[in-house]
This record gives sequence, C-alpha cells and structure tokens, in this order.
Amino acid sequence: MSDKSFLSWPFFSDQCRAYSKELGSWCAANLNDFSESEDERADAKRLVGLLGEAGWFKAAVPQKFGGVDAFPSVRKLALTRETLGYYSGLADFVAAMQALGSMPITLLGTDDQKDRYLEKTARGELISTFALSESKAGSDAAAIETEAVADGGGFILNGEKTWISNAGIADYYVVFARTGEAPGAKGLSAFVVEADMPGFEFVSEIPITSPHPLGTIKFNDCRVPAINRIGEGGAGFKVAMATLDVMRSTVGAAALGFARRAFDEALRRVTGRELFGQPLSEFQLTQAKIADMATEIDASALLVYRAAWAKDAGAERITREASLAKLHATESAQQTIDKAVQLLGGLGVVRENTVERLYRDIRPLRIYEGTSEIQKIVIARQVLKEFAANQ
Ligand code: CAA
Repeated sequence: MSDKSFLSWPFFSDQCRAYSKELGSWCAANLNDFSESEDERADAKRLVGLLGEAGWFKAAVPQKFGGVDAFPSVRKLALTRETLGYYSGLADFVAAMQALGSMPITLLGTDDQKDRYLEKTARGELISTFALSESKAGSDAAAIETEAVADGGGFILNGEKTWISNAGIADYYVVFARTGEAPGAKGLSAFVVEADMPGFEFVSEIPITSPHPLGTIKFNDCRVPAINRIGEGGAGFKVAMATLDVMRSTVGAAALGFARRAFDEALRRVTGRELFGQPLSEFQLTQAKIADMATEIDASALLVYRAAWAKDAGAERITREASLAKLHATESAQQTIDKAVQLLGGLGVVRENTVERLYRDIRPLRIYEGTSEIQKIVIARQVLKEFAANQ
C-alpha cells in the first residue's frame, strides 16, 4: 500500500489527515470492485451517484451549501483527487468535474446561484462542468468567439465550444462567452447554462486515450436569464483564471495518485520477480529507477500540497504555485509511469494491466486545464513580475 508518510507534513491539519484515511478506506472497499464498461458516459454517471451518495463531492462546496468546510479546502480537494486517482482515473475525473464546474459559482456566484446549484452538485444530483475551450480558443483562452448578447431580461448565446468535459451528460455548464465590454480578455462574461435551456445542443462525443467523457456543444440563440451570469459583465476571464488557480494544483494531485499507484505496482513486481538468480530489485539499474520515482513523487507531493496549503492559508492568488505543481506533477508522473511499464516488462503493455491503463490515463493531464507549455508561460510571467516588483 502506498506510502502515507507525507500526511505527517506540516501542510496538513489533523482533519485533513483523518479525511484522507477515511477516503482511502472507502476507495479500497468500493472502487477496487468497480468494473468499467464499454460505455464511459454510463460509468461516469454511475460514479457520480456512488461518490455523491458517499459524500465525496462535499469538499468542493462551502458548508453553508452542503459542504464540509466554511470554504472549500484545496488540500482536501487535492487529497480527494490523489486518493481517487490511485484507484480509478474515471473516479478522479468525475470528482474533478463536480469541483471545476461548481467552483466559479462558489468563488463569485450569487447566493441564489449557490442555492440552486451547489448542494445538488455536492450530492451528485446535478452533474456540472466548465465550458471555456473553443476550436480557436484553447491555450489562448481570451480568444473566445461564443457571443452573449443582452436581450430583455437575459442574454442570447450563440457559438460552439469543444473539448468540453462532461459534454452531453452535464446538467449545467459554466460557459464563458464574449459580451464585448472591452476587447480580448476584458470582454468576456461567465454564465450558468442548463442543459435543458432551449437552444442548447450537445453536438458530438470526442473519444480519447482514456475514459473521459468529452465533446462538443453548441448554442443556437440559447436564452439564459440575467440571474445566471456569474460575476460582473466583463469579469469572465478573471472568473476562469481564479477557478483554474484553485483547480490546477489538484490536477497535479491526480497525477500524483497515478504515479503512486504505478510505483506500488512496480515495487510489487521487482521484489517478487527473480531474474538471473536474484530479485529484480537487487539490480542497481532497477534501484536507480526506484530512486528516481521516489524522488519525483516526493517533489510533486511537496509542490502540490504547498500550493494547496498556500490557498487554504489565505493567499488571494496562487497562480505561480499552482502552475509549478501542475507542471511538475503531471510531467514527472508520465516519467514515473513509463518507468513502471519498463520494470513490468511485457506485462506493462498488456491491455488493462494497471500500469498500461495508467500510461493512457496520465497523458491528458499534461494538456487539460492548461498545457505544460502554458504552465511555463504562467510561471515565467509571475517570476518576472515578482522580480520587477522587487527591484
Ligand atoms: N487570477 C485572477 N486574475 C487573473 C489570473 C488569475 N490567475 N490570471 C490572469 N488574470 C487577469 C490578469 O491579471 C489580467 O487582468 P489585468 O489586466 O486587470 O491585470 C487579465 O486576467 C488578463 O490576463 P493575461 O494578460 O495574463 O491574459 P492572456 O490572454 O495573456 O492569457 C494565459 C494568459 C495564462 C495564457 C491564459 O490564456 C491561460 O491560462 N490559458 C490556458 C487556458 C486553459 O487553461 N484552458 C483549459 C480549459 S479548462 C479544462 O481543460 C477543463 C477540462 O476539460 C478538464
């Protein structure tokens, strides 16, 4: 079983430690037997029901609206993703989307929006998602073309979004659209669009390397009431970035869960397999890999939980810390999982072997919520800004 010594680090409260242990026991009892089918959308919905009923989405919302803490603890969100990710990439995905889709409402929504969406999201009665990307606005998020035009008591949305997680199964979408208060990033606003609002269309699925319901959606004169706008007109880009500040370190946490699982599988294999008259673990080339994997895992954990702790401790922005955590944890998890595949040899590439599955599961994490290249841009900009400010 995975090394838990990191839980004694000062980043965590006793409450976080107890939460992690309880979730770990629940996962061992409930997720080992969860068998995925050919239908990832049906599986995702089943997992929303299972996790929602057990209360594991509650960390994503404030206590007043059905959560466990006065304000969502980023450390608990990260622990949730790491622990779920250890057992199932799809379970991690499901929990991540309940948090990512509802976080803009938690951060900047009205009390009425919080009342309408948060508690049901925490219970798994509503599936949520975050609809930012478009075919010409992926990494360049400010290039969004979907338009929202004020009309009477609301807005009329037109445009297409793609690469949208939970497309087709979400009950509501936090949609970023151009409202035109100013050019570029300052002319966007955020809206809650419900899947049954007239003019909303689910266009198609996009199958990818690992189970992850993804697709394209469209707005055809979709009327959204004014009370569904999140934050001020023109504040949409900041709503998106503030949400990503909270969520990006948790992508690193999911990668950490995948890496720890691969490491455990590799350790089991190298200590149990004899080669040339001795266990594989006795060879120095194996030990070099073990040392590299252990170092990368601890470095990722330190970056992920430092970022999460900083936000929980009251930092207004953790842009640099969150990007450092996402970049390092996702890139190094890819390397760690690759080493695990190598140590398992032929078994490592057998379809549905745990490390083979992890090898596919990890890849999208280096792309979604900002590619590694975007994380480097964000980190460098923050470093240069801080350097200039200290001159
Ligand atoms: N918090 C608050 N405000 C922020 C912010 C943050 N983290 N980051 C930027 N802003 C503000 C800036 O301060 C600036 O406002 P002022 O001018 O008032 O200071 C404004 O937003 C514009 O910022 P930039 O000039 O930095 O904007 P930019 O256009 O140069 O873009 C970028 C910056 C970092 C590259 C951004 O486009 C980005 O993060 N791109 C990646 C998008 C992304 O992550 N997409 C993922 C989609 S979601 C997803 O993947 C979910 C899923 O499916 C699982």
